[in-house]
Amino acid sequence: MKFHIDTERLILRELQVGDLHDWFEMDSNPEVHKYLGNQPVKNIEHIENAFLSIQQQYAENGIGRWAVIEKSSGNFVGWSGIKFMRQTVNGKIDFHEVGYRFLQKHWGKGYATESAKAAVRYGFEEMKLKEIYGITNVTNINSRKVLEKCELKFIETFVWEDFDNMECNWLKIAKEEWEKSTAY
Ligand SMILES: CC(C)(COP(=O)(O)OP(=O)(O)OC[C@H]1O[C@@H](n2cnc3c(N)ncnc32)[C@H](O)[C@@H]1OP(=O)(O)O)[C@@H](O)C(=O)NCCC(=O)NCCS
Repeated sequence: MKFHIDTERLILRELQVGDLHDWFEMDSNPEVHKYLGNQPVKNIEHIENAFLSIQQQYAENGIGRWAVIEKSSGNFVGWSGIKFMRQTVNGKIDFHEVGYRFLQKHWGKGYATESAKAAVRYGFEEMKLKEIYGITNVTNINSRKVLEKCELKFIETFVWEDFDNMECNWLKIAKEEWEKSTAY
């Protein structure tokens, strides 16, 4: 299956080998990893393994994070989209989560919000999901703002044991809420 979604300023498509160099630049930046509960990567092999894992998710789950391409430049600016979470998080297993990550030079342009809205729309319209979740470190204010601009509603905080007992926000949007939303 080939994904290609156009938004006003962005293209969302499957991650490709040609994205790895820019992806490595993004993930080797400590600022990018400040709230992620893990360390910035030190070698490209780490990104290659993440890429293979996402290829596997595309094949097994029919979904996974997408590359985000800036239309005006043709550049890779980050990744965004829906992931099928097979592990237990906050007592829930086998659910869909929207997430995103951008090169620091592209922060503050609204790309996270624009791409996440497109991903949520895809989740409800094409994948026929009933609900989509969002998870952020409680101190990651900008990420919570993105989710709330996409009309996900804060449910509670929880401790994510798999990520060094990081305290996280747990947010959610159900299809009926999305259908009524004026943000889309
Ligand atoms: C969190 C992140 C995805 C936000 O991406 P973004 O494209 O900058 O987000 P948006 O432009 O849609 O803006 C979201 C909010 O953050 C604010 N913001 C973004 N960059 C900012 C900056 N450098 N300084 C101050 N505020 C900033 C925006 O103003 C906006 O707030 P508003 O609604 O009050 O205007 C991005 O900072 C990032 O990639 N961080 C590292 C990875 C990460 O934390 N991912 C999320 C994990 S849950």
